[in-house]
Amino acid sequence: MSVVGSIEEICTSALGAIENAENSEALDAVRVSVMGKKGSLTSILKSMGQIPKEQKAEVGKAANSAKKRIEAALEARFAALSAAELEAKMSAEAIDITLPGKSRPIGTRHLINNMEAQICEIFAGLGYVVVAGPEVETQYYNFEALNTPADHPARGLQDSFYIVDATGAQTNVRGESDVLLRTQTSGTQIHVMESQRPPIYMVAPGKVYRKDVPDPSHLPQFTQIEGLVVDKGITFGDLKGTLDYFCKKMFGEERKTRFRPHFFPFTEPSVEADVSCGICHGEGCRFCKGTGWVEVLGCGMVDPNVFGFVDIDPEEYSGFAFGMGVERIACLKYNVPDLRMLVEGDMRFLRQF
Ligand code: DAH
Repeated sequence: MSVVGSIEEICTSALGAIENAENSEALDAVRVSVMGKKGSLTSILKSMGQIPKEQKAEVGKAANSAKKRIEAALEARFAALSAAELEAKMSAEAIDITLPGKSRPIGTRHLINNMEAQICEIFAGLGYVVVAGPEVETQYYNFEALNTPADHPARGLQDSFYIVDATGAQTNVRGESDVLLRTQTSGTQIHVMESQRPPIYMVAPGKVYRKDVPDPSHLPQFTQIEGLVVDKGITFGDLKGTLDYFCKKMFGEERKTRFRPHFFPFTEPSVEADVSCGICHGEGCRFCKGTGWVEVLGCGMVDPNVFGFVDIDPEEYSGFAFGMGVERIACLKYNVPDLRMLVEGDMRFLRQF
């Protein structure tokens, strides 16, 4: 066969092989077998020296044309194969970066826990310790040692959930069992005074329970923070100064406080502390029922009878106590009109805090 004939043959079979190459690897193998160092077309081009002069031009022309056609075919096939390969790779990995990502909601402290922490923090700043008392109490700690005997009318205001034990726990004159869910954190005062001698500066946060039907201002379970100070020479002035400081820290420096006489069995004298209304600033509005003041907490000087239960000498020591509802403080601070909103677990409400 003439040299030109074999060039044509190499070219035809190369073009066929290029067309049939199924992937870029196979295509590269075709390129090497034709155009590589030892490729079929390369060896013809290398042997041009041995070709008779009169044939050189013709053979050279045929070889060049074959080379160009093969190169063009390789390039076109490579482009087609690599596009297909990229396509296949993308659909196999299939990540659509235009889709919005999956976000995990970040949890936060519940408003009630948050308020509890804020309140404790304010008192911790004054050097108070934070203690915890039991939620299941006996009549003694919840009422009697707090100067509230079974026949005391104040008991009627705090009906609780009684825990009747299988052995038939004792009942009192009211027919109640001895063990109950505490109705107030005030019992913690007794626990602390039993286990510790003055000076005492403590706050005790925790849950309390009452047999109340939920309404805008009542919950059957809520949170209180009890405070107790017992030291030498503690006066009503200390109580006022401390709670005024607390209210300013909690609600804002511009808020005023006032103390109204009240009754609690375990403090004498007893008062309720009000803070000036945050909405009308004392002018009188619907929120404060036209008075300009909102009630914040109950407090008073520790009744000497209570000291009698824990063997502290009222001639030597005096003290004050206070108790506040955390949910109530939260509602006052954020103008929430209904206590029940705090416990319904509605994320649209809770996420605002
Ligand atoms: N324990 C009272 C209640 O639940 C609140 C209270 C009032 C606590 C006066 C006190 C206090 O420590 O001194 O209504």
